[in-house]
Amino acid sequence: MTSITNKNHTKVILVGDGAVGSSFAYAMALQGTANELGIVDIAKDKTTGDALDIADATPYTYPKAVYSADYNDTKDADIVVITAGAPQKPGETRLDLVNKNLNILKSIVEPIVAAGFNGIFVVAANPVDILTYGTLKLSGFPKERVIGSGTSLDSARLRKFVAQELQVDPRSIHGYMLGEHGDSEFAAWSHTTIGGLTIAELQQSHPQLTNDKLVEINERVVKAAYEIINLKGATFYGVGTALARICKALLSDENTVLPLSVYMEGQYGLNDLYIGSPAVVNRNGVREILEVPLSSEEQHKMQQSAAQLKHIANEGFE
Ligand code: LAC
Repeated sequence: MTSITNKNHTKVILVGDGAVGSSFAYAMALQGTANELGIVDIAKDKTTGDALDIADATPYTYPKAVYSADYNDTKDADIVVITAGAPQKPGETRLDLVNKNLNILKSIVEPIVAAGFNGIFVVAANPVDILTYGTLKLSGFPKERVIGSGTSLDSARLRKFVAQELQVDPRSIHGYMLGEHGDSEFAAWSHTTIGGLTIAELQQSHPQLTNDKLVEINERVVKAAYEIINLKGATFYGVGTALARICKALLSDENTVLPLSVYMEGQYGLNDLYIGSPAVVNRNGVREILEVPLSSEEQHKMQQSAAQLKHIANEGFE
């Protein structure tokens, strides 16, 4: 098992310098994550231009080497972040992207493994749960070192909407979207807390938190990406920041809990697929999955979400 051993010098390689990738790279500079950030894309001028542009920010943030890279630079990297892939167009679901993005993924993972990369894959291209599974299969890496961004962004959206409803700092809201990073995800309301209080405990003093309101918030999270895509054509700042947060947790050996796309081995009664669940992560990757005890209704939603992913994955891997 190769983990992030040299905590004094950390290196991340980004593959895919589109809107999500460049937002991630910028977030890494602002967050002071990693000493080195290499950017790989077929559009070499774009990676060189972004590296120069982001490097201009580092005198006001943190010392960091930012450069245009290629697959050979992954050899001694701690993390490879994969954002390369076609983004959703208006009206397109994430699952609609599976065939074209699986082909792109194959062209990425094989040369990275051949270059000798032995760190942690963080996958963000959509459909992320299926592409993370594909990365596991294509790389032959242990499941702990193949992670998808999963419902990290969706859970941030859930916390944002609950915080707005209650006029509370979103950092005081803890909760998860579970399942697919996609249309079948759902809020685990039974384990959503506001300053440690459960929704049920809070409903007495905040009658606006009706069950209809919870349904409405859940729907807003599920449809959040479509709303943004219809307005500006794509989403990238939220997911770019979520990816930087994930990398910080890995590089800093945090043992923090994040909602990620992780490999199921019996959790929630699921096997041999990646799906969104809280997990403890550190410099070795996924330390353990925290299985949320689900109500019967929530368990049914998790099964439905998994069935959706399995159906598409079977088609994609034929
Ligand atoms: C979104 C994209 C990253 O949810 O799937 O914004």
